[in-house]
Amino acid sequence: MPDKINSQPGLDAYWMPFTANRRFKREPRLLARAEGMHYYDQNGRAILDATAGLWCVNAGHARPKIIEAVRRQIGEMDYAPSFNLSHPIAFEFASRVAELTPRGMDRIFFANSGSEAVDSALKIALAYQRARGQGTRTRLIGRTRGYHGVGFGGISVGGIVRNRMYFGTLLTGVDHLPHTHDIKRNAFSRGLPEHGAELADALEDIVALHDASTIAAVIVEPVAGSTGVLLPPKGYLERLRAICDKHGILLIFDEVITGFGRLGAPFASEYFGIRPDIITMAKGLTNGTVPMGAVAVDRKIHDTMMERADAPIELFHGYTYSGHPLACAAGIATLDTYKEEKLFEHAAALAPYWQEAMHSLKDARHVIDIRDLGLIVGIELEPRPGKPTERALEAFETAFDAGLLIRVTGDIIALSPPLIVDKQQIDQMADMLRAVLARID
Ligand SMILES: Cc1ncc(COP(=O)(O)O)c(C=O)c1O
Repeated sequence: MPDKINSQPGLDAYWMPFTANRRFKREPRLLARAEGMHYYDQNGRAILDATAGLWCVNAGHARPKIIEAVRRQIGEMDYAPSFNLSHPIAFEFASRVAELTPRGMDRIFFANSGSEAVDSALKIALAYQRARGQGTRTRLIGRTRGYHGVGFGGISVGGIVRNRMYFGTLLTGVDHLPHTHDIKRNAFSRGLPEHGAELADALEDIVALHDASTIAAVIVEPVAGSTGVLLPPKGYLERLRAICDKHGILLIFDEVITGFGRLGAPFASEYFGIRPDIITMAKGLTNGTVPMGAVAVDRKIHDTMMERADAPIELFHGYTYSGHPLACAAGIATLDTYKEEKLFEHAAALAPYWQEAMHSLKDARHVIDIRDLGLIVGIELEPRPGKPTERALEAFETAFDAGLLIRVTGDIIALSPPLIVDKQQIDQMADMLRAVLARID
């Protein structure tokens, strides 16, 4: 028998995304307001935000400059058509984003979410291969446990079983690398794990199976967030880059969570010193205020498309809301805020303190692994026998009721606070989490 809904009044109509709707609607947790490092519920109770919303509010909540920019923009021009027309701040914002991306990766395509950015990136990769006379390169390679949003492209290259199993046959011609998570060899590693660089060699096996002439691109998250903070082992990303170069395969970094200071650099590409061919981004692009995604493309890809186009429109792809004026206004003010407050530098400076504080939870109840990078941590809990995910979900609810917002995925707690976090708040997060874990079975 399906679970009865028994919603509290007024909650029926909204079908919530990625949510246990029946459970939520019996016992809703509603947020009413946000400022700085905190959310507030309807009774004015403060909840410390250890997840920057959903990895997106990197500058903290209710930032005056962003509020003012959006307010001004909606009064001036609420919307402008995006096809064969535009408006100055879309160009200004693209130039500003291009100042942060690796040199030469300065052609920016706008979408409205991470999922759309990913689908746009995959389409650009395919269209580029065709434009340069390599039209047989149609395969896309992702990675198990990868998350690239929920479009059909994203779930096809993604590697999360439940995001795939309900939705038919997905894209054809997709293959997957193995994920890099290996608790047996790497438990409680600080920073990048030692073991597993050789997992990148699986790309050679895929090439041997299909031939390089059929493969357009590989897409990976430099640090996989949504499946519970899976870090690249030392040397892994370098190896992946080298194999892609050897075989003429494009490398796409999905930086939807690693972009905009999460690792203490504008992008993970800079942090790791590895230049992909395409970067996808969203979330911190506008500090989560107005939905937006973007794709940063290497000039060689863009210029090839411009030179070799067989029609006036070089890329048959785009969205009604690409480069939306409110999103661009919010984005420019967001980048100003990051810069003026030196938030990426602040994150880099705070990372060792964060690492120390989070690893102090090693002996907390239920914990079987802790792994960190930049201002990210994954804390893996021992699953309840026969009831995977239950313990973490209970940790989430208990933490929320205690005034701490955490994110859980499977039996893993993933924390990624706004970059404005201070040492005292980091200590508070660790203390509260320890108490929560002690309280749940
Ligand atoms: C790496 C990565 N790619 C894509 C997405 C999808 O972004 P959105 O939910 O904005 O579509 C996410 C969201 O968490 C993500 O972490």
